[in-house]
Amino acid sequence: MHMRVKETIENRRAYRALDVVEIDDETLDELTTAIRLAPSCFNNQPWNYVFIRDPDMLEKMKNVMSPGNEWTFRASMISAVFSKKEDDCMIKNREYHLFDTGMATAFMILRATELGLVAHPIAGYSEKKTKDVLGIPEEYTVITLVIFGKHSEHPESQLQGDTLKVEGKRPERKPVEEFARQDGY
Ligand SMILES: Cc1cc2nc3c(=O)[nH]c(=O)nc-3n(C[C@H](O)[C@H](O)[C@H](O)COP(=O)(O)O)c2cc1C
Repeated sequence: MHMRVKETIENRRAYRALDVVEIDDETLDELTTAIRLAPSCFNNQPWNYVFIRDPDMLEKMKNVMSPGNEWTFRASMISAVFSKKEDDCMIKNREYHLFDTGMATAFMILRATELGLVAHPIAGYSEKKTKDVLGIPEEYTVITLVIFGKHSEHPESQLQGDTLKVEGKRPERKPVEEFARQDGY
């Protein structure tokens, strides 16, 4: 499948109805390559990832999820994304580690989308439990968990109510005028 960036951006969705898919080493290599090529302040590359594919580890990760995120229990892979401010530019009040790690993660998510995978970032998890399960040192901030899978052809068998509704229709976006101005604020 060869998508253009425009199409990949359009096709990406934070789907929650997930089927099991094998994510092999070559696929993982594609994802880490996309991360590697992302820009960062001073080329600092402040990002860190733990990719979880082992079934026993995926089982343990169920305990870190917040209520409402039970759909993540069907993940075929989870990527924990973490960084710390000292690993990137700090220019007065501007701390770039979250920004740069976010860009790298967006690259990963788009590449995963192009490969036909769902890659859904979440904030609803216990950071403390995540660090405990994965052995991530205290000084890092776990910014997101990215949930990977294959989009189910039958979301109605997994989801209900608003969650099911949103699966078929992308949530509304702000009108452009609310965030984009021209030639001055
Ligand atoms: C930082 C971040 C945190 C999110 N946390 C959750 C979450 O905990 N649970 C969830 O189901 N979706 C989560 N989402 C997905 C968003 O709800 C989703 O991206 C948004 O509603 C737009 O939908 P779309 O990505 O399908 O266009 C998160 C997305 C981001 C970027």
